[in-house]
Amino acid sequence: MTVLVTGGAGFIGGNFVLDWCAGSDELVVNLDKLTYAGNLDTLSTLKGRDNHVFVQGDIGDKVLVTKLLNEYQPRAVINFAAESHVDRSIHGPADFIETNIVGTFNLLEAVRAYWSDLPSDHKAAFRFLHVSTDEVYGTLSATDEPFSETTSYEPNSPYSASKAASDHLVRAWHHTYGLPVLTTNCSNNYGPYHFPEKLIPLVILNALAGKPLPIYGDGQQIRDWLFVKDHCAAIRRVLEAGRLGETYNVGGWNEKANLDVVNTICTLLDELKPRADGKGYAEQITYVTDRPGHDRRYAIDARKIERDLGWKPAETFDTGIRKTVQWYLDNHEWVQNVTSGGYREWTAKQYGA
Ligand code: NAD
Ligand code: DAU
Repeated sequence: MTVLVTGGAGFIGGNFVLDWCAGSDELVVNLDKLTYAGNLDTLSTLKGRDNHVFVQGDIGDKVLVTKLLNEYQPRAVINFAAESHVDRSIHGPADFIETNIVGTFNLLEAVRAYWSDLPSDHKAAFRFLHVSTDEVYGTLSATDEPFSETTSYEPNSPYSASKAASDHLVRAWHHTYGLPVLTTNCSNNYGPYHFPEKLIPLVILNALAGKPLPIYGDGQQIRDWLFVKDHCAAIRRVLEAGRLGETYNVGGWNEKANLDVVNTICTLLDELKPRADGKGYAEQITYVTDRPGHDRRYAIDARKIERDLGWKPAETFDTGIRKTVQWYLDNHEWVQNVTSGGYREWTAKQYGA
């Protein structure tokens, strides 16, 4: 038995592959383009394991994807691959259109051709699971109900618009061609191996480096935080028991304002690694210009996945953020390579790219 994971050298995909390989002997074929966000250091503990095969490549490369599908005959494809950073999508949306929309389209077409030719029992068991985001629903006011699976799509950034487009393609490939798809729409993840362009790892590493902790606007934007291992467990559960063609919202029931998140990290660092000058890390907080079109609030109603599939998060924000801060303190080498760009050099040496 085999699964094909795309984007498995990124933050969530990497955690998913590590958890999968720890809990199962089933082969994971891991297709990742190794953009700036792909990091083979994350997968270093899998060296020598015979249930993980890494392939550098693009989900938009239909010839390569077709070859992998025919060679490995996966029972499922789990699609994490994407351009994922909102700020980058504002500065340069082209890569987001290319990977998130055109790439997903090409992946769906390659998978459809493979699936169509499968013998009937394998065809019935096959799954295409698309990993998406709560940002497709747009923004909430302070008093709005959280996003449910029936909330209409109103994406506001180039990133969320490209993810919304990919969700629509996945939905259409089910309704038109019968491709057995599942979609998850998850809230903000945090945890180990998170690339330090995103708020939580950026703040931890900037704090330790004595740099400013940048707060966009008034810092009162709200996100619903989920520990990454809980997200991975939700995806495994949807893959196992999700109803075909359905979408599942995944969230942590942890709505927090950005400023509160940053203050929590500062307090934890004050306890775990106090500043040499005796001052608090919160002194480094700096207000900066707001993100254009910044969504004010996200919140997920995760009752459907709990009711229908029995999934709920194991971590609270307090337990998850403590584990995360401790992980960044304990994993100097990973952090060092990411911040120095060393892992990119390693990739060039290993793959000649
Ligand atoms: P990430 O940016 O850390 O990782 C993305 C991975 O995809 C990288 O390894 C990158 O090399 C790879 N990739 C990019 N373009 C590719 C292509 N064309 N072909 C093959 N591989 C490619 O992202 P992440 O935070 O791990 O997010 C993973 C998925 O989960 C994304 O689809 C994202 O939209 C979704 N998501 C993320 C969050 C979050 O909070 N991070 C929340 C909900 C949903
Ligand atoms: O909601 C799910 C989404 O969460 C995912 O789909 C995205 O892939 C993921 O990147 C994340 O998007 P956000 O834009 O919410 O995450 P980010 O970490 O970039 O920002 C979190 C909040 O913190 C947001 O309100 C912007 C703010 N922020 C961010 C950075 C990087 C700051 O105030 N300062 C910063 O320096």
